[in-house]
Amino acid sequence: MDLRWNNATAFVAGASSGLGRAIARELALEGCRVAICSRNSERIEAARRSLIEETGCASDAVMALTCDVTNEADVQAAVSAASDRFGGLNLLVTNAGGPPTGQIDDLSMEDWRQALELNLVSTISLTRNALPHLRASRQAGKHASVLMITSLSAKQPVPSLYLSNVARAGVQGFAKSLSEELGAEGITVNTILPGYTRTDRLQHLSASLHERTGMPIEEIEAGWASSSALKRIGTEDEFAAAATFLLSPRAGFITGVALVVDGGAVKSLL
Ligand SMILES: NC(=O)c1ccc[n+]([C@@H]2O[C@H](COP(=O)([O-])OP(=O)(O)OC[C@H]3O[C@@H](n4cnc5c(N)ncnc54)[C@H](OP(=O)(O)O)[C@@H]3O)[C@@H](O)[C@H]2O)c1
Repeated sequence: MDLRWNNATAFVAGASSGLGRAIARELALEGCRVAICSRNSERIEAARRSLIEETGCASDAVMALTCDVTNEADVQAAVSAASDRFGGLNLLVTNAGGPPTGQIDDLSMEDWRQALELNLVSTISLTRNALPHLRASRQAGKHASVLMITSLSAKQPVPSLYLSNVARAGVQGFAKSLSEELGAEGITVNTILPGYTRTDRLQHLSASLHERTGMPIEEIEAGWASSSALKRIGTEDEFAAAATFLLSPRAGFITGVALVVDGGAVKSLL
């Protein structure tokens, strides 16, 4: 399928590894120019170099930015540097790392505040800063789209992941409200909800559960795999393919959607 990109430019947050990097890779393979950001300047620069090598794109088609998405000044500077370099922005992917595990008695108020900053407030800040650029693209007759990475926990809370369950629900509310408001301007807003997908985050999650419960890591992972209809853990590529389609002009009549990419782990009808 020709996704009809038309020289698209993207800002992908939390992209030195994992799902953000996989989306940036797919977009670069599609010929888009991509700005990637993360907190660690060495990791994000390494990601830039490896993306250029893996995709064969031009060396100036991937831009690396050091930016902590919980820091408003960082976000402002990174988004505007990306737009300056590329002459505008069409696509925004909001993303960051995931919060720690824990249930009500394990978590301090500081844990709650940090998790909401990391996964909810950062999404709002990235969107607010990118919006003028997306609007300018749209007014110039180009496609403009926002995609927010959340989690299957937004549809089906995960027992050990209170922080994620709560923060992601907030993002879903923000995305749905925004899709309604920006629809009249022709800007699409969607969320994508990963299920268990093999990344660094998944490794940390199994290690942390192992520490808390003593359960062997293989058993934890086997449990995750068997919770999905497809009986396996997903790959970054599978996730990135779905995300890339949702961002593309060919998905232009899809907005306000929460797409679960989880191999059938969420059991609700809709
Ligand atoms: N993988 C799964 O199975 C799964 C399932 C459900 C939900 N999710 C959610 O999907 C999101 C991405 O997951 P992932 O598996 O790709 O995680 P990951 O492998 O841990 O990657 C997270 C990325 O975000 C960056 N990052 C972390 N904190 C940041 C911050 N404050 N500012 C900017 N960048 C930041 C990290 O880079 P630096 O360290 O260089 O900053 C890294 O590039 C997370 O929110 C995760 O909870 C993942």
